[in-house]
Amino acid sequence: MYVCICHGVTDNEIVESIDNGAQTIKELTAELKVGSQCGKCCQCTKKILNNKLLQI
Ligand code: FES
Repeated sequence: MYVCICHGVTDNEIVESIDNGAQTIKELTAELKVGSQCGKCCQCTKKILNNKLLQI
């Protein structure tokens, strides 16, 4: 599913990025541009990040 409409970023891409070492929203934004335009996807991105980091 698309998380970031502005940049066409999916939840799978975010998860992949986290698996490759991203640990903060800032890092995800630098890599995928999520949250860098309207910011509406920040909440959902944060949720995915927190869920993933808790699993590790
Ligand atoms: Fe991600 Fe707009 S939906 S910046």
